[in-house]
Parts: sequence; structure tokens; C-alpha cells
Amino acid sequence: TKQIQIAIDGPAAAGKSTIAKKTAELLGYTYVDTGAMYRAITYKAIQLNIDLQDGEKLTSLLKETTIELKPSPKGQLVFLDNQEVTDEIRSLKVTASVSQVAAHAHLREEMVLRQLEMGKDGKIVMDGRDIGTHVLTNAELKIFMSASVEERAKRRYLENQKRGIDSVLKELAEEIALRDKMDSERDASPLIQAEDAVFIDTTELTIEQVSEKIMQLAKERM
Ligand code: C5P
Repeated sequence: TKQIQIAIDGPAAAGKSTIAKKTAELLGYTYVDTGAMYRAITYKAIQLNIDLQDGEKLTSLLKETTIELKPSPKGQLVFLDNQEVTDEIRSLKVTASVSQVAAHAHLREEMVLRQLEMGKDGKIVMDGRDIGTHVLTNAELKIFMSASVEERAKRRYLENQKRGIDSVLKELAEEIALRDKMDSERDASPLIQAEDAVFIDTTELTIEQVSEKIMQLAKERM
């Protein structure tokens, strides 16, 4: 069998990371959550009180920052300059600010260089917004996953509940819709389906069903 690259893109809370993680596990591949990288630099910029509109400042900051994704039995851990920030980067503040940071073209270029380095040996499942269109452009399998905003908000609500976080469904739906709008309408590599990506609407599907479908598509390409 051939070693392949798998790119999974789609809007916020579509279940990309759950599915990407599971696919990587089943195949013995490395999982890279690129959203965590954008979140990590956003977290650092907020800590340092840097103007999130200042793309050049943010890009220089990123260039002197190390971001590492490390697998662990508890899931992927995120390290920012050698300090673990796995939970911190999921805060409301970071979530509300990350799309603004991710809109800067030069910052994205630096992120893509790092992601290419992580993906160069194949055996990789990478999820994000621009993986099929700008990062793993030759990936053997590209997936574009979506679901209705209502369904995505509901899933995020249940996920939060499990983590002991109280949230308001309507607010989650608004936050998701706003982030989708910002990610889709930006000039620098906006959220868009790659021409050669397979579209999967997960609104009516379980995690198992989506996972099975992706495993089948992957095996056809190996
Ligand atoms: O995947 P997640 O929801 O954690 O991503 C957080 C944000 O990071 C997205 O809303 C988007 O603004 C940005 N992002 C991006 N390109 C990627 C991954 C994430 O612009 N490849």
C-alpha cells in the first residue's frame, strides 16, 4: 500500500478534528490540527497585548515562536514556546479573535511553510480551512466536510457540556456563523472547497458513518 496525504477542510465545528484524529489513528498516521496553530499564535498575541490588526507585527511574532503538536493518550497536546496551552487556546477570547489573526497573508505563508514541513513525508491527516487548496495541494485524498449551522452548534453545545462548560446554543450558532463568514470572505486563502475534494454533508451522519466513508475513500487511493 501507498502512503498518502489526507487533507480535511470545512467550516467551524463540522467535526473535522474528531474525524481527522480517528482516521489518523486507524491508519497509524500523524494528525495535524492546523487550527490549533492559528489559535496558539492568537493566544500569544493576546497575552502580549499585540494589535490583532497588525499583520506584520504578528508575522514577526510568529517567526520567533515555536508551536508544537504532540500526540498523547489524552489527545493532541499543544505547546507554545515549550509551554502547554492545550486548553487555553480553546477559550472564548481566542475563539472570537482567531479569524482576525488568520486573515493576515504573511502570517499564513509562515504557517503553510511549517505545515508543509510536517506533511512532507506523507502518512499525514491534516485538518483546517485551506489544506486542500494551499497546503497539501497534491494530497491523494481531499475532503470538504460540512453540516448545517444548527447541527454544528448543537454538536459544540454537547461537546462543551461534556467538558463541564455551560453555553447558550444560540450564541454558539452566532459565533460559528460569524467565524465561517470571516474565514470565507477573507482575501488570503479563504475557506473554499478544493476542486478535487470530496464533499461530505455530515448533518445526518454519525461519526462512525463519516469515518467509514473516509476510510473507504482512503483505501481506494492507497
Ligand atoms: O479549526 P479551528 O476551528 O480550531 O480553527 C480556528 C480558526 O483558525 C479558524 O476559524 C480560522 O480562522 C483559522 N484557520 C485557518 N486556516 C486553517 C486552520 C484554521 O485560517 N488551516
